[in-house]
Amino acid sequence: MGSPVTGRPVPGDGVSLREKARALDVADPLRERRGLFQLDDTVYLDGNSLGALPAHVPGRIAEVVSREWGELRIRSWEESGWWQAPERIGDRIAPLVGAAPGQVVVGDSTSVNVFKAVVAAARSRPDRPEIVVDATTFPTDGYIADSAARLTGRRIVPVEPEKLGEALGPRTAVALVNHVDFRSGRLHDLPSLTAAVQEAGAVAVWDLCHSAGALPVGLDAHGVDFAVGCTYKYLNGGPGSPAFLYVARRHQAEFDSPLPGWTSHADPFAMASGYTAADGATRGRVGTPDILSMLSLEAALEVWDGVSLDLVRAKSLALTDFFLECVESYAPAGRVTALTPLPHAERGSQVALRCAEAPSVMRELVARGVVGDLRRPDVLRFGFTPLYTGFADTERAAATLAEVLVEVAPGD
Ligand SMILES: Cc1ncc(COP(=O)(O)O)c(C=O)c1O
Repeated sequence: MGSPVTGRPVPGDGVSLREKARALDVADPLRERRGLFQLDDTVYLDGNSLGALPAHVPGRIAEVVSREWGELRIRSWEESGWWQAPERIGDRIAPLVGAAPGQVVVGDSTSVNVFKAVVAAARSRPDRPEIVVDATTFPTDGYIADSAARLTGRRIVPVEPEKLGEALGPRTAVALVNHVDFRSGRLHDLPSLTAAVQEAGAVAVWDLCHSAGALPVGLDAHGVDFAVGCTYKYLNGGPGSPAFLYVARRHQAEFDSPLPGWTSHADPFAMASGYTAADGATRGRVGTPDILSMLSLEAALEVWDGVSLDLVRAKSLALTDFFLECVESYAPAGRVTALTPLPHAERGSQVALRCAEAPSVMRELVARGVVGDLRRPDVLRFGFTPLYTGFADTERAAATLAEVLVEVAPGD
């Protein structure tokens, strides 16, 4: 009989899952990375919302505050490299999303960067009246795209990413798509969807919030036009850390930002009354960078030094496979079903389980030291962050979930 969770055959009794977890942890080439983070006994499966704190960041920020701000004060814009931080940190993120240097700039929130990218993309296709938007998108992208459409005189066409091809045509100016669905964890096919958008003569804008730092993205290799993403999830930049904007080099000269602030001016300190855009990724800047958050992010990115994203992806898939296997084996029948696709090519780095009692179950899980999150009304989300999540954590999370499901009565 198939599993009630995934429909796959239920594994027979073999080596216990706890034993298996131990062996997988021993063989894990990324296991040393966990020591770089401040963690405790909690099984933290919410790094797809807020990444854990890299342990060296507080010391680095204390130094920035006391030395760079406290002693050097205004001199730090030059002497401590504050002014160049948005481009410098962008170049540090670039290899994590498969971009050559000079195409990523850091600053503002993802929402603001969605606005810049969608309006600039629409302006580059003045005769096309439609903006196609992922109908399953994280809400902010939809709200911002709607406003961008009203401002630029376009119409929104909502479509599920799997059916994007049906919505594209000579009327399409822009398509805005999430790489990984925030609710289900479904991974969308960035290479083929980007190609389809471009074949229609439109511009592809990708939201990488749930893929940057979770899997190889390959922005340059797949010819993506624009992309945005946050840095507080898998990149561990800290609460509200600045987002990033990727503008492919071939689009930079024509990138017409709807927020042309003074720090994206070609000569900001000329204080000219007229605007002349800077070259390169700098065009994506707006106002004074949020230095403390930026430098927390810059320090946090050190945990990626020497890490292969292929290893991260392999471990992420192994963790999510193992979690599903443990849930299948431990959970009482019929209480949870997997919303996350089983094929690896369609899975990001989280497992979403549908559960009628999701609010009570997540409350109880958190109380027992297993932190995932809830997407109302009935989705339990568990994020797997290969730099610090282990297989023993994963087994414990599934065992605790099963225990809670036994105690929380159906209908609670
Ligand atoms: C896919 C996606 N896009 C956008 C956002 C919102 O980003 P911000 O709050 O940085 O504007 C989130 C936040 O979780 C997200 O998951």
